[in-house]
Amino acid sequence: MKNRYPILIVVIFIYLFAMVGGLLPKEKAAEAYRLTIPLGLDEFSPQIPKDNPLTNEKVELGRLLFFDKRISIDERVSCASCHNPKLAFTDSQPVSSGFQGQKGKRNTPTIINRLFSSGQFWDGRADSLEEQVKAPLINPVEMANPSHEGVVGRLKKIPGYPPLFKTAFGTEAVTMDHIAKAIASFERTVVSGNSPFDRFETGGDKKALSESAWRGLKVFRGKGQCHLCHTGFNLTDELYHNLGAGWAESEKDRDLGRYAVTRKEEDKGKFKTPTLREIEKTGPYMHDGSLRTLEEVIDFYDRGGNKNPNLDFEMRPLKLTPQEKRDLLEFLRSLSGAGWQKIMPPARFPE
Ligand code: HEC
Ligand code: HEC
Repeated sequence: MKNRYPILIVVIFIYLFAMVGGLLPKEKAAEAYRLTIPLGLDEFSPQIPKDNPLTNEKVELGRLLFFDKRISIDERVSCASCHNPKLAFTDSQPVSSGFQGQKGKRNTPTIINRLFSSGQFWDGRADSLEEQVKAPLINPVEMANPSHEGVVGRLKKIPGYPPLFKTAFGTEAVTMDHIAKAIASFERTVVSGNSPFDRFETGGDKKALSESAWRGLKVFRGKGQCHLCHTGFNLTDELYHNLGAGWAESEKDRDLGRYAVTRKEEDKGKFKTPTLREIEKTGPYMHDGSLRTLEEVIDFYDRGGNKNPNLDFEMRPLKLTPQEKRDLLEFLRSLSGAGWQKIMPPARFPE
């Protein structure tokens, strides 16, 4: 009888340990985000930095920050004010307007499929989505914060935010680095694929394209030479070209594009080849929003772009027939797909 006690004590100890272990709050490990890559996109191409792996917690925090107007100086402009999900993450204006309605100089590009590119902005001046985020926050005509510290300070004061940074990054510290990593993670989930073009090209469904769109694809890859620059699964070579769009007569009004980054003479007036996915929904077009419709874009290419000393050698009159133009337009429309429509603004923001 006597020698039973030690066993009993051990059992009680084990029981107590298990109870305390269960009751004490555990550090919740961040969960890897399962990126769904729609048909037609290359699942091996996402540009995700090693120090910012995708997790559910970061993506969700990034979504809150992307839609939260409190990150601008007057608490009236969010990223989504210009990158509006209802307009395929653009704003339907020739050039964007931000803080107090001030106009910027460039057209708002979509954030769809940005996870496949490193160079961000029309001139590629940011090398990653993380770096890109930092610019609009302190741009005087966009979110107009005097400094990044100002943004950090405001978010810190919202009691609901630090705990979300804790679940995403393991520390309550609200820092610019964490803000950028969270927003960039969210942006990487905004994708478009599985368009009629993808079902035709990758899925092998020969009926996915209308007769006209199919003829348009042949113009795109043939007489129109569009594929020379709009190439690969995301329809961009990720390079910079001069088409002469918005080339101003007077030098001081000229947007020199890529030149601002490289200071190379030959880069004057070059801009990044954008993706053509969802193109039907993202007008007006070109870096300066100077072309209102896709018909205008096709006419622009048909006349060989705008003459200027740096015009790309591929740019020459195409002599497309009216039928070829209509077919090309039908093809461009077949690049509207799915993925990004699932993304909704948050129902509630941290208080
Ligand atoms: C006032 C309107 C406005 C606001 C607010 C704004 N953007 Fe933009 N965004 C633009 C414009 C205009 C450009 C292109 C600027 C350039 O190329 O010089 C751009 C470019 C981008 C790009 C690069 C896309 C590409 O194809 O290269 C990304 C990504 C982006 N914005 C994300 C964001 C995020 C994240 C926020 C919030 C922190 C934000 N934007 C806030 C207007 C805005
Ligand atoms: C020499 C390379 C090149 C060729 C060839 C080319 N593009 Fe482009 N495309 C670009 C670049 C660069 C831009 C952005 C130019 C700018 O903003 O100034 C662009 C912009 C566009 C846009 C507007 C995108 C937006 O988001 O505003 C459309 C639409 C377009 N191209 C369709 C076509 C079609 C159709 C063809 C064939 C008829 C074609 N492109 C041929 C490089 C090219």
